[in-house]
Amino acid sequence: MAEQGSPLEQLVAAVRASARYRHVSAGFIARIGAQELAKRPNLKAAIKATKDRLHQVGGAYRGTRPDYQASLERLRGAFRGNLSDLRPLCLEIMRTHASTRERLPVLAEFYGSIFDALPPVRSVLDVGCGLNPLALPWMPLAPGAAYYACDIYEDLVAFVGEFLGLVGVSGGAWVCDVLGEVPRQKVDVALVLKLIPCLEQIDRAAGRRLLDGLNADHLVVSFPAQSLCGARKGMPATYEARFRELMEGRDWRVRRFAFSSELAFLVSK
Ligand SMILES: C[S@@+](CC[C@H](N)C(=O)[O-])C[C@H]1O[C@@H](n2cnc3c(N)ncnc32)[C@H](O)[C@@H]1O
Repeated sequence: MAEQGSPLEQLVAAVRASARYRHVSAGFIARIGAQELAKRPNLKAAIKATKDRLHQVGGAYRGTRPDYQASLERLRGAFRGNLSDLRPLCLEIMRTHASTRERLPVLAEFYGSIFDALPPVRSVLDVGCGLNPLALPWMPLAPGAAYYACDIYEDLVAFVGEFLGLVGVSGGAWVCDVLGEVPRQKVDVALVLKLIPCLEQIDRAAGRRLLDGLNADHLVVSFPAQSLCGARKGMPATYEARFRELMEGRDWRVRRFAFSSELAFLVSK
């Protein structure tokens, strides 16, 4: 049977047919796919190049996809009304996301020290959230605080939304592509954790656009201290230099927090 649709439609369909990328936002695949098709006319080669880029900006971090339905059932069973009831299970689930997992050894220290430097936090926006919303039991938020989260993965975002509902935290989770549109929720704190290097692989101007556009009083912007395979390769210094460039010309207060696995900056706009 002949293939239907434009080359870009065929590319999106082919990428989404693979188990690894079935749940990635079609709009995001189309953005990357259009760039790759513009570089070469060959559809098969463009499909491969699109998958490679998707791997770099998301797939590499997913690790083993958890059984979200089973995880939700276990969370429901363990919840007795306090977020702290869920700590052991949240740790287990967060371990399945390669990037979120790197923070686990310093989780309490990470949120304790950064949020300690802030007035009471009543709302959070977690951009490119991965499984980080499951760190809510370690976040010292004000009672009744709202939590908003977005990512390019439809299944992950649906799970995070169910989790927020289960623990009675208002807000919500949705599919986003912040290369195309910066979320405009007004919040006390926006978390931009280890996201900028992913965005800037696709569009060098995307990090600055995001930091400028977020409607938050404070931003927590972080960078990995090592690559996923564990090599350090001078990464913290390179990322710090890039972060300082992004801050040029901005009259914002910056505080620096260095952890073993992550370099974070608290930016007060
Ligand atoms: C390195 S991981 C960090 C995950 C999480 N912020 C953390 O630190 O635990 C980057 C995340 O950004 C998401 N992402 C990549 N490109 C994105 C985009 N254009 N818009 C929204 N999310 C994106 C990926 O799916 C992935 O979950």
